[in-house]
Amino acid sequence: MYSSKEIVQMRKDYLMPCLGYFYKNPPVFVKGEMQYLYDATGKKYLDFFAGVSVMNCGHSNPDILNKVMGQLSSLQHLTNVYLTSPVVELAKKLSEVLPGDLHNSFFCMSGSEANEGAMLLARIYTGKRKFIALNNSLHGRTYLTMSATDIPMWRADPYLTDDVYFISSSPDRILSDLEAVLEKDNDIAAFICEPIQGNGGIITPPDWYYTEISRLLKRYGVLFICDEVQTGFARTGTMFAIEQYNVVPDIMTMS
Ligand SMILES: Cc1ncc(COP(=O)(O)O)c(C=O)c1O
Repeated sequence: MYSSKEIVQMRKDYLMPCLGYFYKNPPVFVKGEMQYLYDATGKKYLDFFAGVSVMNCGHSNPDILNKVMGQLSSLQHLTNVYLTSPVVELAKKLSEVLPGDLHNSFFCMSGSEANEGAMLLARIYTGKRKFIALNNSLHGRTYLTMSATDIPMWRADPYLTDDVYFISSSPDRILSDLEAVLEKDNDIAAFICEPIQGNGGIITPPDWYYTEISRLLKRYGVLFICDEVQTGFARTGTMFAIEQYNVVPDIMTMS
């Protein structure tokens, strides 16, 4: 086992420098147990950060681990040339908790891929090219999702596409700004947003927000992609945050 100092040095020697860390001498975590983490000295921490707020069900939750290990030890990987029971079972279970008439799933590996897939689906379905996103948005690290991300530190690629309009998320401006873009450009496939902006500052919009946005989008035949990557799976009190606004998006992503 390497010490904190050695790990910092090895990061420098062997990892790409873009992988940042926040502490001069980061604690070396060796074990996670539900809400607790343990460092190499045996010190126990209550983990308020939960991964990056992704370990909803705790670290190494035995219910999850046992199922995952059971699957890995019986059948690890196949191509989708074949069908298996777990993939359709999971999609069926998901359809039971998805809002409204959403019930067809596509499984991938990350939030970025989920949003990239959603944007591709919107383009294929509508035959249109562009997107509308909100100021201070974060949708991922792939080319198209980074292009739909407004937070500057996430826009690492200097040659992102300008197929994305950014509009203000402010309740005072959203409807007029959205309508202005919809009026001037009829090549918009979808509007994409996080129902409660996460890295943008935990911005919770007023009750009317998504009903009015949806109404406008429907009028112009533009799809609504709801990015629940950070808000999904009961983090905000309902299974998905958009349920609190009584709106069913056209496409929803989660991770
Ligand atoms: C709202 C939102 N969408 C998409 C992503 C990208 O997800 P991933 O890091 O799994 O690619 C993130 C990551 O933090 C996110 O917060």
